[in-house]
Amino acid sequence: MEEIRIKIETLRKEIDNWNYQYYVLSQPVISDFEFDLKLKELERLEAEYPEYNDPYSPTQRVGSDINKNFVQVEHAYPMLSLANTYSEEEVADFYNRTKKSLNEDFELVCELKYDGASISLTYENGLLVRAITRGDGVRGDDVTANVRTISSIPLKLHGENYPDLFEIRGEILMPWASFNQLNKEREEQGESLFANPRNASSGTLKLQNPATVASRKLDSYLYYILGEGLPNDGHYENLEMARSWGFKISNTTKKCKSLQEVFDFINYWDTERKNLPVATDGVVLKINSARQQLNLGWTSKSPRWAIAYKFQAESAETRLNSVDFQVGRTGTVTPVANLEPVSLSGTIVKRASLHNEDIINSFDLHIGDMCYVEKGGEIIPKITGVNIEARSMTGEKVNFIKTCPACSTPLIREPSEAAYYCPNHANCAPQIKGMIEHFVSRKAMYINIGAETVEQFYNAGLVRNVADLYDIKHSDLLNLERWGKKSADNFVESIKESLQIPYNRVLYALGIRFVGETVAGRLARAFHNIDQLKAATYEQLIAVEEIGERIAKSVLEYFADIANQALINRLQLHGLQFAVREEILAERTNILQGKTFVISGTFSLHSRDEYKAMIEKNGGKNSSSISGNTSFVLAGENMGPAKLEKARKSGIKIINEKEFLSML
Ligand code: IVH
Repeated sequence: MEEIRIKIETLRKEIDNWNYQYYVLSQPVISDFEFDLKLKELERLEAEYPEYNDPYSPTQRVGSDINKNFVQVEHAYPMLSLANTYSEEEVADFYNRTKKSLNEDFELVCELKYDGASISLTYENGLLVRAITRGDGVRGDDVTANVRTISSIPLKLHGENYPDLFEIRGEILMPWASFNQLNKEREEQGESLFANPRNASSGTLKLQNPATVASRKLDSYLYYILGEGLPNDGHYENLEMARSWGFKISNTTKKCKSLQEVFDFINYWDTERKNLPVATDGVVLKINSARQQLNLGWTSKSPRWAIAYKFQAESAETRLNSVDFQVGRTGTVTPVANLEPVSLSGTIVKRASLHNEDIINSFDLHIGDMCYVEKGGEIIPKITGVNIEARSMTGEKVNFIKTCPACSTPLIREPSEAAYYCPNHANCAPQIKGMIEHFVSRKAMYINIGAETVEQFYNAGLVRNVADLYDIKHSDLLNLERWGKKSADNFVESIKESLQIPYNRVLYALGIRFVGETVAGRLARAFHNIDQLKAATYEQLIAVEEIGERIAKSVLEYFADIANQALINRLQLHGLQFAVREEILAERTNILQGKTFVISGTFSLHSRDEYKAMIEKNGGKNSSSISGNTSFVLAGENMGPAKLEKARKSGIKIINEKEFLSML
C-alpha cells in the first residue's frame, strides 16, 4: 500500500511540473501522448485507491492559462475538455456505448481537432461583444481587443437569422507559415523560440498590444455553438448556418452513420492533415443531435456525447551520439543533439534541439540513450523524451556546459530565463561572426556577402567586429582565395552603397538584443539621432510605444558598454547614417503635439497603420486603451461598443476619419 501512495505522489509531482513547463513557461518537456498516458495512469490509481484523494491533485483541474494582466470573466457555460483516446478500440467502445444508451439511430459528426488556443466568442445582436480564453474552464481572460484583430473572426455577422444572443467556441490558430516566419524573426533577434504553433497562438493572444497581435496573422476555426433558440437541433446544421453568418467553419467536417465511416475519416486525415496550413492533432467525434446530446449528458469534466481521437505525433526512436553546444550571435548557448540518422516524416534527421538545461535535466539524459524525436511540422526537430528502459548504462550523463565552448568564458544564466549566454560579446568567435552576418544581411546593411565569406574574412584576420568591414581594402581581397578583381570591385561598391542605408536600418544592423526591425524603427522615430538615443533614460525609452522594460534595459546596457561606444564612433567616421535625414524630418509637424489618440474600428480612407504613422509624424502619440490621457478617439466602422461607451462616459472627443484628416 505504501508503494501505491508513493507512486501516486510521484505521478502528481511529475504532472504538476509538466503542467508548469507547459502553461507557465510555454516550454513543453514531454509529448502530449506521454503526458496523457501519465495523467490517465494517475486517474486510474486515484479511482482505485480513493483513500489517497487530494483536492489539489492535477487530475482535479484543467490547466489554467489565466494571466493577471487581463480582466477575468466567468464563462456563461463552463468550458469543459474532451475525453481523449489514442486507440481505435476505445472509439468503438464510445460508439457502442452511445448506441446502447440512446437506443435509437444517431448521426456522428467527425471534425478535425485543431491544435491552437481555445476561445469563446459572444455575439449580441450580431456584434462580437466578448472573447474569452478557456482559463481554468470556469473563468478566462477577456482578450476581446486582441481577437478583434483576427481577420477571420467576424465583428459583425452577415444575414439576419442568427440568434440575438449566443456563444460560439473554436480555436485560434497560427498557420504553419506564420509560425515559421515568426520563429525565424525571433531567432534573428536572439529571442527564445515558440515550441509549436499552439504556444505561439496562446502567447500571442496574451500580448498587451493588439497591434502586435494583428501583425502575427492568426486564424481561426469555430466548432461549437451554444445558446438558447439555436436554429437547428443538429450541431452540423447549426455550424453550416454559422458559416453563412460569416464564421470560418472547416469544410472537412463530415456526418457519419457507421463506425466504418468514422475510421475511414480518421485514416484519411491522419495522412492528409500534413497538407493543411494549420496544426491538427486528432479527430473529434460528436453526436449530432442536441436532444440526444442532452440525453447523454456530461461528466464533471467532459461531455458524454463527444470524444477526441488523437493522432500519434510522428515520432522516431534513435540513439544520442553526442551533444553540441552552439553559440548564437547574442551569446545564447543552445544544446543540440547529434543523433544516429533516422527517417522521420520523409526526411533523415541527424540533429535535434534539446532546448535548455532544465529540459536536459528533466530527461536525465545520458550519451547513448535511445531518444524520442518528433517533427510536428516545425523546422527544428526536437527530443521529446528518453526510453529509459533501453538505457545501456555505459554513457556519460549530459550536463549543460558551464563555460563557453568557443572562448571558455564562464556562462551566465539569468534567474528569470532558461537559457545560458556567453558574456564575452566582443571577443567570442561565433558571436563576432554571427553579429557580422546579421549586420550585412538583406534587411540590415544589405552588403553583398554570405556566411562563408564572413568566415573567410574572420579566418584571414580581416574582421573582428562590424566596423572592420569598412577598413577592408581592394588589395586585401585579392590576396584571398577565390577572390578576383570583379568580386573585389563588387564588394567595395556594396560597402560604399551601404553608407546610404537609413538610420533605422543601421540601428537594426547593430544587433542590439531584442531590437528587431520594428523596434529599431520606433527608436529612430522617437530619437532622431544616435546621440539622443545614447542619452535616453530608462523612462524616456519605455515611454516609446511597444518598448518595455526588457528592450529598454537591453538598449541601456548596449550603450553603457565602452566597446560598443568605440564601435559606433568608428562607424560614424566611416560615414554610416546615424540620424534621420533632414528631408524626412521636414515632413513632420507639431500640429498634434501633446495629443494622445486611441484608434478603434476599421477605416476606408487609410489603413490603421497609416493613421498611426500620420499621428506620430505630426507630433501626436498613439495609445491602445482609453484613459485619462486620451485626447481623441479616432473611430472607424465596427468600433467595440464597450470602448465607445467608455469614451462617451469619460467625455473624450470621438472623431471620424474625415474629421481627423481635416485636423491635419
Ligand atoms: S469541441 C465540450 N471540437 O480540444 C466540447 N474541441 O480537449 C467542446 N478542440 O478545449 C470542444 N478542435 O480547444 C471541439 N473540432 C473541435 C476541436 C476542439 C480542437 C480543442 C478545444 C477543446 C479541446 C478539448
